[in-house]
Amino acid sequence: MTDQHLHLQTMGQQHGRRSWAEPWKIKMVEPIRMTTPEERQQALRDAGYNTFLLKSDDVYIDLLTDSGTSAMSDRQWAGMMLGDEAYAGSRNFYRLEAAIRDYYGYKYVVPTHQGRGAEHLISQAVIKPGHTIPGNMYFTTTRLHQELAGGTFVDVIVDEAHDPANPHPFKGNVDLDKLQAVIDRVGAENIPYVSLAGTVNMAGGQPVSMENVRALRTLCDRYGIRIYLDATRMVENAFFIQEREAGYADKPIAAILKEFCSYTDGAWMSAKKDNLVNIGGWLALNHEDVFDQCRNLVVVYEGLHTYGGMAGRDMEALAIGIEEAVQDDHVRSRIGQVRYLGELLQEWDIPIVQPVGGHAIFLDAKRFYPHLAQDVFPAQTLAAELYLDSGVRSMERGIVSAGRDPETGDHRHPKLELTRLTIPRRVYTQAHMDVVAESVKSAYDRREQTRGLRMIYEPKYLRFFQCRFEPI
Ligand code: F0G
Repeated sequence: MTDQHLHLQTMGQQHGRRSWAEPWKIKMVEPIRMTTPEERQQALRDAGYNTFLLKSDDVYIDLLTDSGTSAMSDRQWAGMMLGDEAYAGSRNFYRLEAAIRDYYGYKYVVPTHQGRGAEHLISQAVIKPGHTIPGNMYFTTTRLHQELAGGTFVDVIVDEAHDPANPHPFKGNVDLDKLQAVIDRVGAENIPYVSLAGTVNMAGGQPVSMENVRALRTLCDRYGIRIYLDATRMVENAFFIQEREAGYADKPIAAILKEFCSYTDGAWMSAKKDNLVNIGGWLALNHEDVFDQCRNLVVVYEGLHTYGGMAGRDMEALAIGIEEAVQDDHVRSRIGQVRYLGELLQEWDIPIVQPVGGHAIFLDAKRFYPHLAQDVFPAQTLAAELYLDSGVRSMERGIVSAGRDPETGDHRHPKLELTRLTIPRRVYTQAHMDVVAESVKSAYDRREQTRGLRMIYEPKYLRFFQCRFEPI
């Protein structure tokens, strides 16, 4: 050991500091471009102040979403060369099916092109007009497919989830009393399933505890109600159980994931998140009757039941991604990076959703801009301000995303008015996170001069993707 090593080691001991680092190194890079303030002004105007409508060439650090934006590993890229592009019976499908059975534990698998394809199939298969679907907070595409099938979504998440400052460790939990009240009101026969999401996206990436899902299973069994899981970010949920729930500290993420899934009857998946691929999804089920219906519907809407809209090579990369995603050191560094950004912002007293969740930092736009009413879109405004400042792209998760009530046609006014800085997996460095934090700080310093936006174009479905604004 050299003197320098010895010195560093003693320093480490003195400071008691042990940093996490990514369990990979970079083999290939993709250049990104910094723009001028004038270019960003123009680009934002052209995009109607909606970050979804920006060209990615005009974006410097892209935190719009963690969906399909992850970096694949060398093993996954090698897998792409093993694509069996047969129309029927591709060998990659059987690899994918085996991976889902091994790691998630469900019996039957239907591949889809992405998450909403799976949401469509399960909704059409089991929801009848007039049904009620209770769930732990809505997700945009999930709720829309439930509504298009004739159902009504009812939120039964714990109250803490609607309070961005509440530090509850499992803000994704289902409030069983609220669920019981829904069952008493509409009758179990009108509830096709409980829609349960791991790390609840709209609540800030907040987890569900194992204790909660176990109790949910007991309650649902009493009434013969099924539970379907949105497994999109369930691996991240398993990390929080390992970290926070008694009895799980020594269990691997993979074991926790499988135990959690075992309390549910099936799952839909946007594989573009946890599963580390750029495109893909799946539906997995334990009951043969529902599987039969979904396997039949998939050939109508997605593709044959052994590819469901994916190429063979995509299914191979996905099978490998599933295995990589559940490695403890991967998940620890993924969430470690999200927390690093969160800690910087908290040091500067910038209001964010607490505790920091799995996939993103959620800026609390209501506290960021206390002078702006929700009807002038504070979170959308903040996303626009961040882009103007530095070319960092974020996303609105507030009144725009919540859409309109299908009955009254009025804006829904969600309690949470958030701007999401979503971190792609295995893509950006700590230095990128520093740049992002400094840009948020700069928008915060200018907050009092900031006015809101006016909506000037609004499409019928999922308006946040395509609506346009102008500054007030
Ligand atoms: N469920 C959750 C919890 C999601 O976050 C998403 C997508 C979906 C389902 C739908 O999956 O996009 O593959 O069709 N969320 C993305 C996001 C778009 O940015 O949060 P998809």
